[in-house]
Amino acid sequence: MKRREFVKNSAIAVAGVNILPSGSLFSDTKKVRMGFIGVGFRGQGHVENALRRNDVDIVAVCDVSDFMLQRTADIFKKAGKPMPQVFKGDPYAYRKLLELKNLDAVLIASPWEWHAPMIIDSLQAGLKYIATEVILGITMEDHWAVVREAEKQKANVMMLENVCYRRDVAAILNMVRQGMFGELLHLQAGYQHDLRTVKFNNGVDGGPGVEFGDKGISEAKWRTNHSVHRNGDLYPTHGIGPVAQMLDINHGNRFLSLSSFATKTRGLHKFVVDHAGENHPNAKVEFKLGDIVTTHIKCVNGETILLEHDTNNPRPYSLGFRVQGTKGIWMDVNKSLYIEGVSKTDDSWEAAQPYLDKYDHPLWARWGKDTEGAGHGGMDFFVLHAFVESVKRKTATPMDVYDAAVWSAITPLSEASIELGNQTVEFPDFTSGQWMYRKNNFALTDEY
Ligand SMILES: NC(=O)c1ccc[n+]([C@@H]2O[C@H](COP(=O)([O-])OP(=O)(O)OC[C@H]3O[C@@H](n4cnc5c(N)ncnc54)[C@H](O)[C@@H]3O)[C@@H](O)[C@H]2O)c1
Repeated sequence: MKRREFVKNSAIAVAGVNILPSGSLFSDTKKVRMGFIGVGFRGQGHVENALRRNDVDIVAVCDVSDFMLQRTADIFKKAGKPMPQVFKGDPYAYRKLLELKNLDAVLIASPWEWHAPMIIDSLQAGLKYIATEVILGITMEDHWAVVREAEKQKANVMMLENVCYRRDVAAILNMVRQGMFGELLHLQAGYQHDLRTVKFNNGVDGGPGVEFGDKGISEAKWRTNHSVHRNGDLYPTHGIGPVAQMLDINHGNRFLSLSSFATKTRGLHKFVVDHAGENHPNAKVEFKLGDIVTTHIKCVNGETILLEHDTNNPRPYSLGFRVQGTKGIWMDVNKSLYIEGVSKTDDSWEAAQPYLDKYDHPLWARWGKDTEGAGHGGMDFFVLHAFVESVKRKTATPMDVYDAAVWSAITPLSEASIELGNQTVEFPDFTSGQWMYRKNNFALTDEY
């Protein structure tokens, strides 16, 4: 594959021209024919949203869990639609789904460790549009492998980073693009969400519970194991995605280096002991993940980013956004901002809401009503919408494989930094220098 050709095609795609070779699948039907791989709790949400659209046809679903497939069948029944073809029975049953001749796109919502192999298999099966849940892969090798295969196959891999579409975040992006904060200097974000009940099935199976792994349900089956074996920012993309869009990462800017710090490890062990006592087998598990992992990132254009991962202790949910530039600052936790020369009182916080209303992103102004019922306050509508519209128009997806790779790379890089005693480690350049020339096509219009 000639990189230059791919880059040229991507640039053309930004301008709205067809990037697919002639004879591509999505040509003679008005509906995007999708296969869903992994229909657990998250995948079911995407199925519900896809069933609401009249431009999507779900032709197949795949999962290894009969419990999850039954829940998915109930969703189809409720929507008054027949359950599509089901692929099940073994962990590689999805490869049979990929052999279907009538697929335009697949959506992958499986455990993290399955994302990279499923994406690569989908690319090699000839799919040109692949949506994957966060994150792209586990290791740096995974991220490189996905990037290289997407380039080779001239295909779109879009990570479904929904927080980029959160209403306040999109309004702030709009303000950033209009220069309201001046030149950006420092941004903060993170994943600050008490996941103890999720990691231990507590309440999920009618809890209380402290089980995970084979006895777990949904994310307790797999996600908790990452807290046993890994120490780093395991879930960077909900925070970094929106921040990267504001900073035009991969589009005239790029992440240069990071260093990460982890606190001691207490929360998960304490939860087990508090709920099941010191004699429960899981009280013997040694969790490796530091309770709060803090990552500092430096960008080529001189900005800094502070990212937090904080999931194992009692705390109210907050992604902790802060956007600060030479003219002002916004923070989401106090729902306030200050803009010099605009805010009425000097040196005082002002409610952000009137600004968020005034600078409401055109996407929300146009599609706000359609978001009703979609998960996470409506942002789940937009991320699927953007993917489906890209397939229909045969254009590049507004978030691409380079975005997915560099955002997801924070995890293995933060693990390396912590392992090396908080050393600063360098980001690779997945775009091979093209970040200098590429234009950001994320949320530029009210269309998708
Ligand atoms: N963007 C968001 O807001 C958001 C919210 C929740 C979860 N997620 C992400 O979605 C993904 C899935 O999370 P979830 O909460 O749905 O977890 P889950 O465990 O409920 O769902 C994963 C599903 O994949 C299935 N699966 C596992 N191996 C498989 C295989 N080899 N072939 C087919 N199916 C397989 C499991 O049986 C399960 O049904 C994760 O990446 C998670 O981080 C994103």
